[in-house]
Amino acid sequence: TYEVQLLLEAREKEIELLQKDNEIYKLKSDKQKLAMWLLYFGSAIIIVLAFVIYYRYRLNKKVTLELEKQVEKRTKDLREINEWLKKEIKERKALESQLIRSERLAGVGELAAGVAHEIRNPLGNISSSAQICLSKYDLQKSVKDFIEIIQEESDKANAIIKGLLDFANPREVKLKKSDVCKILNNVLNSVNAHVINCKIKAQINCDKNIPRIMLDEKWFEQAIQNLVLNSIQAMPEGGKLNISAKADFNRKELSILIEDNGEGIPEEQISKIFDPFFTTKEDGVGLGLSLCHQIISDHNGKMNVESQIQKGTKIILTFPITYI
Ligand SMILES: Nc1ncnc2c1ncn2[C@@H]1O[C@H](COP(=O)(O)OP(=O)(O)OP(=O)(O)O)[C@@H](O)[C@H]1O
Ligand SMILES: [Mg+2]
Repeated sequence: TYEVQLLLEAREKEIELLQKDNEIYKLKSDKQKLAMWLLYFGSAIIIVLAFVIYYRYRLNKKVTLELEKQVEKRTKDLREINEWLKKEIKERKALESQLIRSERLAGVGELAAGVAHEIRNPLGNISSSAQICLSKYDLQKSVKDFIEIIQEESDKANAIIKGLLDFANPREVKLKKSDVCKILNNVLNSVNAHVINCKIKAQINCDKNIPRIMLDEKWFEQAIQNLVLNSIQAMPEGGKLNISAKADFNRKELSILIEDNGEGIPEEQISKIFDPFFTTKEDGVGLGLSLCHQIISDHNGKMNVESQIQKGTKIILTFPITYI
């Protein structure tokens, strides 16, 4: 029995050991399970975090793009407003100087009209007396020469006075639907002798779609002629004279360009060329552009000058196309 007891004890110890083993195994497997769960849980957190980061990155990118777009749009708007302001300032300045010019012209005009009217009659008498002397009397050659000078000079003075009166007197403007290109051609024909004399290559380019606009043909032709003559006089050694007309139906504007490659106008003189009696020519009166400016204004037109010394001058006239 002692042996059996020993055997039983040994078995019990063995069972105890096995039970401990079993417990250890259980513990290990619990730890492994825990580790696995931790791994799953950690991975899930990492995936969620990654998704959140990615989502925020996309959101940021979208917001940045939106902001960039807005900034771009605002910059464009600002640029447009800036352009508009610049244009407005330029137009106001032009209007201001036009106003000053008109006031000055009105003053000079009144005075000139008064004086011209008074001088015209005595001048006419001088000229006709000289004419009678020349035609009725058999004069000595030297006397005849002097009387011829009297007649020529008084006729010249008369022409100046006529110009002055044209400029000063209120013009009667009779507007009617007219063909601009026909008038431009008329002007070129009337100055043809000067064009040939000065060896100038002149040409007219009229767009086909030029509408008829309301003009006083007589005064309008006079204004264009003054401009064309100025161009011819600026090219005594020859050159190119380009006259063109085009219509911009979006802006409802018709523009006429008169371009020469003559001597040009020095920058400091550009502001003065519309002043009455401003001239740089020996036999100039200085009324051509003043009158021209008035006529263009009578037609609600605008006149701009671009010039570069020794390169040439470009006169740009713009008129509203009002009735289409
Ligand atoms: N196309 C041009 N090229 C160069 N200078 C010009 C041109 N047009 C005008 N000018 C300048 O402007 C000045 C004034 O011109 P405006 O036509 O008023 O008078 P003018 O030609 O001198 O005399 P007129 O009264 O006989 O026309 C001219 O003397 C000239 O200096
Ligand atoms: Mg002139």
